[in-house]
Amino acid sequence: MYYGADYYPEQWLEERWPLDADLMQEAGFNVVRLAEFAWSKMEPREGYYEFSWLDKAIDILGERSMKIVLGTPTASPPPWLMSAHPDTFRVRADGVRVTFGNRREYCPTNKTYRHYSARITHAMAEHFKDNPNVIGWQIDNEFGCHDSAACFCPQCQEAFKGWLKERYITLKRLNERWGTTFWSHVYNDWSEIPLPWTTSGSPNPGLALDYRRFASDSYLAYQQLQVDILRQLCPHHFLTHNFMGFTYDGLNYHALAEPLDFVSWDNYPLMMNADPARIAIAHDTMRGLKRSGFWVMEEQSGPHGWENVGPTPRPGEIRLWVYQAIAHGAEGILFFRWRTSRFGTEQYWHGILDHDGIPRRRYQEVKRVGEELKRIGEMIAGSRCRAEVAMLLSYDDRFAFQIQSNNSRFSYSDHFQLYYEALHRLNVPVDIVSPQGDLSHYKLVIAPTLHIVTEEIISNLQRYVKQGGLLVITFRSGVKDEANAVVNRALPGLLADLSAIEVAEYDSLPAEGRNGLEFVIPGLAIMGQKISCEVWCDIIEPKGAEVVARYTEEYYAGKPAITLNRFGQGQVVYVGTMGDGRLYETLAGWLLTLAGVQTILTAPKGLEMTERWQGNRRLLFVLNHTEREQEVTLEGRYSDLLYGSAVVEGRLFIAPRDVLVLREEKKG
Ligand code: GAL
Repeated sequence: MYYGADYYPEQWLEERWPLDADLMQEAGFNVVRLAEFAWSKMEPREGYYEFSWLDKAIDILGERSMKIVLGTPTASPPPWLMSAHPDTFRVRADGVRVTFGNRREYCPTNKTYRHYSARITHAMAEHFKDNPNVIGWQIDNEFGCHDSAACFCPQCQEAFKGWLKERYITLKRLNERWGTTFWSHVYNDWSEIPLPWTTSGSPNPGLALDYRRFASDSYLAYQQLQVDILRQLCPHHFLTHNFMGFTYDGLNYHALAEPLDFVSWDNYPLMMNADPARIAIAHDTMRGLKRSGFWVMEEQSGPHGWENVGPTPRPGEIRLWVYQAIAHGAEGILFFRWRTSRFGTEQYWHGILDHDGIPRRRYQEVKRVGEELKRIGEMIAGSRCRAEVAMLLSYDDRFAFQIQSNNSRFSYSDHFQLYYEALHRLNVPVDIVSPQGDLSHYKLVIAPTLHIVTEEIISNLQRYVKQGGLLVITFRSGVKDEANAVVNRALPGLLADLSAIEVAEYDSLPAEGRNGLEFVIPGLAIMGQKISCEVWCDIIEPKGAEVVARYTEEYYAGKPAITLNRFGQGQVVYVGTMGDGRLYETLAGWLLTLAGVQTILTAPKGLEMTERWQGNRRLLFVLNHTEREQEVTLEGRYSDLLYGSAVVEGRLFIAPRDVLVLREEKKG
């Protein structure tokens, strides 16, 4: 297990570095991330490199057994570069070119910027490739952050043309797929194609979606530029990038994760109101990108804030976040940041130490975890999360709903989260994976608003269901083809065979609009009770599917709202509407039974339980996110790794904000 902090020695006097390193060592750190914002210190003038300060910092840390992750510094270019090459600044959708003064101002397509990025990456790689303390690289920092996912500059327009040519080959085909006869948009020459600037209202949905894909691919290519250099010069180092969790939807994270060795991400729980399910969905999304262990490269360790100061982590919270990350598959955790900066935009973004550098309560908590991880790290190493339930996350769909949300109250992410939260509340492990991925080992697959459906996705889903899987799809699924055109057939389009229904009509509800639904099949807990639904109602004609729930209001009262179809050895549930929390609780309970999925253990609200597996041996994480003592009843016998009891079984009490890591004892 890697444990450490993000450290900016360049922001502090050299005399302080040994003390910082001593304190880190005492806190049990074995890794430090350095240099991701130090371009102007490493290349103070064009072509003149200065790495001796960094060598020294690495030596001091290395002498105290800390390994180093180096960040390439390209998220924040130096003033000399940007003032000499103003065309490297990104252009916003409204045509305004951003200027110097914050970070992430660059255009990833810009040839000059790529040249300078390649050069600093190359210089760093050459210099540090044989440093025994360096173990890996973080490429750039949070691609897409600060609204930088897309650039609208002339170089991007030119590159977009090339991207479109590769995709559509002929202009005729592009015109057909985008349906440019609408409003007389037929293009006679590639150069006529605009970017989706904000100047004249909503663009063609095909163009808008392709532009988001292109923008995402531009970062992919930009990342690859650095990947190629680092792979060549530092073949024994790992490569990662720090992603931004579940809520970030500006870039295709599945594609971006592919060339990396593992994913890392930046976890700021207090920006998510410390809601355990919101933090958990982010961890699971990050684990799902490569279906393997991940790192938290920046873990909140103090009050956050740029202009205003956020709340301080309560005693026990930092420790809880570390174990929650591990419980969901993290293999490395670094705190942001070691010490709070006295200068700059992030003066109030607190680290483990405050501005004065004095170790206090938060440091003591971090140190306690460091001691614990030293004891139990080995016992967790190599273990993996396992889930029988998957949720399908599509960045194409996220892009499409950014262009047309379909209903002003609909959010792809919030709707997705409703399903996740119901499963999380029941302590069911969930993998969050791409619709193209292998689904064969899941018992239940939930695909909320699977909007854009391709032949590849359909074959994947059909294969899964035929072999006995239970698939859940919802309203606004199968609506669009790959070019973001509405399909030329009854909805749910290509999903019609699987679901055996037809969406005869739909009703997009206004802000105060509500309908109700009633479950009609036996065995559901609130049989006969009405559940409120909102936002969207598909009015369903079954074409072989069985009715699970019906609407209770409006001219479509009595029409099916939820259906179930048998397909091959498996089953498909179609949910035609969005409900309140009760709908998802009911659905989750029913679906888990239908799929034969076991929950880990029933636990009171706020008590999160997850598992990691070492072969067939279970590690159980019990996380009390509440301020009250909680109780659970264990099945089986465990040893308590953190508190050292040889055997725990039966009723168990867990203190407020405390954590238990339990290892199942072999039977017999
Ligand atoms: C992250 C970023 C860090 C730091 C932190 C606090 O998004 O990667 O560099 O800015 O937020 O704002």
